[in-house]
Amino acid sequence: MILDALNIYKSFKSGNKTLHILRGVNISVKQGEMIAVMGVSGSGKSTLLHILGLINSPDEGELYMLNEKIDFKNKSNLAKKRNENIGFVFQFYSLISELSVLENVMMPFMIKNSKNNRKRAKELLDIVGFDSSMAEKMIFKLSGGEMQRVALARALMNDPEIIIADEPTANLDKTSSIDIVSSMRNINSSAKKTFIIATHSREIADLCDRILFLNGGIISEENS
Ligand SMILES: Nc1ncnc2c1ncn2[C@@H]1O[C@H](COP(=O)(O)OP(=O)(O)O)[C@@H](O)[C@H]1O
Ligand SMILES: [Mg+2]
Repeated sequence: MILDALNIYKSFKSGNKTLHILRGVNISVKQGEMIAVMGVSGSGKSTLLHILGLINSPDEGELYMLNEKIDFKNKSNLAKKRNENIGFVFQFYSLISELSVLENVMMPFMIKNSKNNRKRAKELLDIVGFDSSMAEKMIFKLSGGEMQRVALARALMNDPEIIIADEPTANLDKTSSIDIVSSMRNINSSAKKTFIIATHSREIADLCDRILFLNGGIISEENS
C-alpha cells in the first residue's frame, strides 16, 4: 500500500464548541490508484487531504506512507517526506501571479535543488497539455483551465509518487474540468502515479478507480 490511514480522528475548536470532523477514518490506497473523495462542503475532505498530504496532523490514528509509519511530531522529517513524495493541486491554483508559467513550474525543483530545470518543466507542460509557446507568459494572463494545467505540471516537477488535488476543478467550466482530470488520468496510467482527488462532481469522480464518501466523519466506499 502506498497510503494506509488507520482510525484517523481530527477535531477543531470553534468558539466554545468542538467540531469532530474526522471520527475514525480508514483508507488504504494502492500504488497507481486514482481515488475520488466526495462529501458535502464542511464534511472534512480538505482536512483529510491535508493529513494524507502531511500538511496537518491527526489527533489520533496512524498513517503509513510507502509502508513507513509517519511520525507527525518530527516536523523536519515530515517536511522532507512531503517534498519527496507529494505533489499538491489546489482549487485556487496557488501559483505566483507575477512569475512566468515556466518559473512557477520550476519552483519546487528550485527549492529542492537550488538550480533550475527548464527542460523538465517544458516536458511537463507538454504532458499536461499546456501550449509551450506560452511558457514565458505571466500567470495572471492565463485562463483558469490554463492555470490549473500549470499547477498540475508544478505538482509533478519533483516526481512525487502521490498527487493530492483538493477540488481542482471547482473553478473551471465543464470542458476544462474534464480536460484536466483526463490529463491526470493519463499521467496516472502512464507514470503509475497515485492520485487522490476531492471533488463535488460525480462526473469527475466517475473518471477515478474508486470513490470514497466522507459523511459524518467516516468513509464509505463505492467502485465507480
Ligand atoms: N483550522 C481549522 N480551524 C477550525 N475549523 C476548521 C479548520 N479547518 C477546517 N475547519 C472546519 O472543519 C470543517 C471541515 O472543513 P473542510 O475539511 O475544509 O471540509 P470540506 O473540504 O469537505 O469542505 C468545516 O466546518 C471547517 O470550518
Ligand atoms: Mg475543502
